[in-house]
Amino acid sequence: MAEPTVPAIFDVYRYDPAIDREPRYQRYTLDLAPHTPVLSALLRIRAEIDPSLTLRYSCRSAICGSCAMQINSKSRLACETHIGPEMERHGRIVVEPMRNQAVLRDLVVDQASFWRQYSLVEPHLKLDPAHPMPEGEPTSMTPEEVERFKETPRCIACAACYSACPAVEADAGFPGPMALAKLYRFVVDPRDHARQDRLVRIQPNGLWLCLRCHLCTEACPKDVRPSERIRDLKEMAIAVQGATENGSRHAVGFKDNIEDRGLLNEMRLVRQTYGTLGMLGQVGQGLRIVRKKPEIMRRPHAIEGVDELQKIYEALDPEEPK
Ligand code: FES
Repeated sequence: MAEPTVPAIFDVYRYDPAIDREPRYQRYTLDLAPHTPVLSALLRIRAEIDPSLTLRYSCRSAICGSCAMQINSKSRLACETHIGPEMERHGRIVVEPMRNQAVLRDLVVDQASFWRQYSLVEPHLKLDPAHPMPEGEPTSMTPEEVERFKETPRCIACAACYSACPAVEADAGFPGPMALAKLYRFVVDPRDHARQDRLVRIQPNGLWLCLRCHLCTEACPKDVRPSERIRDLKEMAIAVQGATENGSRHAVGFKDNIEDRGLLNEMRLVRQTYGTLGMLGQVGQGLRIVRKKPEIMRRPHAIEGVDELQKIYEALDPEEPK
């Protein structure tokens, strides 16, 4: 029996910088079975309707990572995104190239920046030159040590996380979620000799630009959960170097504010983040906030039951001196 089909509407981003002044969207309508992957639909469009449609793919099995694109505004693998749920949810399927990378043509982007950031974190073991591993001998690790980075080897470098990341969009110097997840993998590897150096060097390069929006984790098709690995790196960087960046000082100040009174004291937090002198640069912004929210100038007070809150902090971090 023939499988039932649904009319599927595709609005596909088209742009050839060599001939087009600006991008446009081209509509194609096909009758397809609901479980058809978006990639298969695009290949059919290319084979039967428009041979000029340009896209990148290889394995068609969610392994190679080359078919990542924006599908209804989400960074996804086209070979594992089925048309049925997309049509049900959105009434059409908008297909666009990945974000944060220049378009070469239609759905193909230039991944040079993504790979440059990856190479900058030096994603390979750095051994102690004074104690090189004996050649040909295996190095052993405990199951607990391996467990610490069990997710990161799943990464297929599809760049869906890089495309979804607002910090990359805001600052091209931000390494991006995949590069930071790879960095984490070597920082927690007990055989790596450069742990401390890696953590110190990554901080000025924008570790703290991560907003913890978790869009990278949502986009990752392999559940690498890069945002959680970035959180771990931040904690380890503070442990190694202390709070030396605006971002780390802000994080520590935020925690201290809540722990002390259960409420955020914005004035105190700005001072903790930028220092007394650095506050001068924030005066304009501060005045705008005070105009909108005058209550922040009220004398800070502790919430009722703040001692209960402090017990939670104590239970979470019994080592920290009070
Ligand atoms: S074609 Fe390889 S991951 Fe989709």
